Amino acid sequence: MTTTLTLRRPDDWHVHLRDGAILQGVVPHTARQFARAIVMPNLNPPMTDAAGVSAYRARIMAALDQGASNPAFTPLMTLYLTDATAPDEVARGYADGVFVAAKLYPAHATTGSAHGVTDIARIYPVLERMAAIGMPLLVHGEVTDSHVDIFDREAVFIDRTMTRLIADLPELRVVFEHITTAEAAAFVENAGPNVAATITPQHLHINRNAMLVGGIRPHAYCLPVAKREHHRLALRKLATSGFSRVFLGTDTAPHARHLKEAACGCAGIFNAPFALESYATVFDEEGALDRFEAFASLNGPAFYRLPVNEGTVTLVREPVTVPDAIDCNGTMIVPFHAGETLGWRLIQ
Ligand code: DOR
Ligand code: ZN
Repeated sequence: MTTTLTLRRPDDWHVHLRDGAILQGVVPHTARQFARAIVMPNLNPPMTDAAGVSAYRARIMAALDQGASNPAFTPLMTLYLTDATAPDEVARGYADGVFVAAKLYPAHATTGSAHGVTDIARIYPVLERMAAIGMPLLVHGEVTDSHVDIFDREAVFIDRTMTRLIADLPELRVVFEHITTAEAAAFVENAGPNVAATITPQHLHINRNAMLVGGIRPHAYCLPVAKREHHRLALRKLATSGFSRVFLGTDTAPHARHLKEAACGCAGIFNAPFALESYATVFDEEGALDRFEAFASLNGPAFYRLPVNEGTVTLVREPVTVPDAIDCNGTMIVPFHAGETLGWRLIQ
């Protein structure tokens, strides 16, 4: 039985690091495990221009210095698209290395998306420019139509928006973020080389029962929401299959405990502290530990056209108990797997 797992140092291709005091509390958890992370721009206000993104990057670097964590950590920044985004601003910021991708939030789809795109047709000039310069588009793939059931919003997005987008702009490089359905898994598998997906640990571990059976459990609530069991199984199959256009993206999304445990609790699961342990458990359960490195460390850089990282991390088959809550620089946050014991431990 494998008892030690050494991988090339991995990256997290989807994180929310927030801002202000909480940033300093959460970023060390990501920097401890990952060499790089794609940082989401859905702050309040959102990061809609190069100057704002650049200033946010500086705040992240300052928070890292104060946290005395991995000094080699590199945040990879993203731009928040709105109806008003100018193609030149996108191209300039990308060329200058301020951001590596742009994020499409359909307006009102999720936390911090109020300024998102109301109709994708409005940003076609931006998307055409991105296709021309090879800049990836990161997509929150859910429709926001109030008539569509929340459990169907991803599948309907594929039919209404994603299929057409890929057909209209075959050169555009698209990451379908945090996929949650069998439909999305099949879509990405059958798409061409310009389409990839990230998968979170929670969507590999839990189905919607975790949120709703025996009481309502706000810490299992995120968007897109966890679906039925057969979707979880399809995601596990894809993630552990060795397929090259799927990679690690935790969507770690910290919210203060009192904002989750509320009459209208925020969407988001804080999974950064034990992310690698959580994913390793899935690959182990699926008998696919030999494919974990591709998912965690190789497929993402290949898609983003970045070099793989130097150095390694090592996990050992030892129990690790996840705390009930973590103090993130003064804000108490309940992590994913709180109170559970996982079978793998990161020792660096
Ligand atoms: O659950 C989520 N939380 N999904 C998102 O898309 C956004 C995120 C957040 O920022 O809290
Ligand atoms: Zn996210």
